[in-house]
Amino acid sequence: MDKILQEIAQFYKGQGAPGDQAALLSCLREAQAACGGVLDGAAQAEIGQVLGVKPSYLQAVAKRISDLKLSGAAHTLTVCQGQNCTRRGAEIRRYLEAELGARPGKTFLDGKWLYQTAGCQRACRTSPNVRVDGRLITGVTVEKLKELLQAK
Ligand code: FES
Repeated sequence: MDKILQEIAQFYKGQGAPGDQAALLSCLREAQAACGGVLDGAAQAEIGQVLGVKPSYLQAVAKRISDLKLSGAAHTLTVCQGQNCTRRGAEIRRYLEAELGARPGKTFLDGKWLYQTAGCQRACRTSPNVRVDGRLITGVTVEKLKELLQAK
């Protein structure tokens, strides 16, 4: 994911971002789409580094634009909701939602993590699958998920 974000930011830097507001907004929208709908703290840092601005500047810009969703969370956990992952990964969702109180589209664990869901990730053979900051993690168990959440 980092490489994709860097390529997007580099392209729009060549188009005049961050000084050119239209180029900056196009950059953020494209990056948001590449991240599955929300730009988390790690993505903001990545883009900001290429463009030479602080994540707080990107957040200030995004606050004024209704279709941009920037999260203050440092990391994003995306849980696959495809048929196979849902069937084989029910315990993961139960752990997240019942024990940690996570809700899709919201942060959890003191705002450190953004929890989101997504459709089939085209890796059903290794389900249940999640993405951590865009990176596919396969064969996830509750124990493995606990380790992933604590490692960041
Ligand atoms: S259902 Fe999750 S990867 Fe296909």
